[in-house]
Amino acid sequence: MEVSEREVTQGEVYCEDVNSLPDVDWTALRARAREAAARAYAPYSHVHVGACAQLDDGRFVEGSNVENASYGLTLCAECSLVGDLARVGGGRLAAVSIVAGDGEPIAPCGRCRQLLFEHGGADLLVDAGDGKPALSLDALLPGAFGPDDVEARANS
Ligand code: THU
Repeated sequence: MEVSEREVTQGEVYCEDVNSLPDVDWTALRARAREAAARAYAPYSHVHVGACAQLDDGRFVEGSNVENASYGLTLCAECSLVGDLARVGGGRLAAVSIVAGDGEPIAPCGRCRQLLFEHGGADLLVDAGDGKPALSLDALLPGAFGPDDVEARANS
């Protein structure tokens, strides 16, 4: 996917014009994320989260948050999405929308940024909302530790 990028003052990198990306229908992606949010199991926080990602081959994967009475065992929507990715045979995430129950994008938590990095890398585009340029995952998780680092830093 070709994406034009430029540096901005905060050191972030983002797309010049999200709506000009030929391969990402952000409205559709967000709509699917909203449907996933409606299927969340969140009886404790009442924060319903849904995520939908488009793979670089055009397929979609989705996830909803699944809470637990033992709060620390909660699965975020992105965690479910990564499970869905494995279920459909794997692939590379190209763009993702993560929304709360109000239908608007929600910031992915730190752990989920790492999960998304594993399967989408620094160039993964993250929905920032209607009319706003998408963020790259590199902007959300700069200097990420990833699969390449494991091999590079392992003792031989
Ligand atoms: N949550 C997600 O699903 N993804 C995130 O990236 C942020 C937080 C969920 C977890 C929990 O069920 C609820 O939001 C409140 O923290």
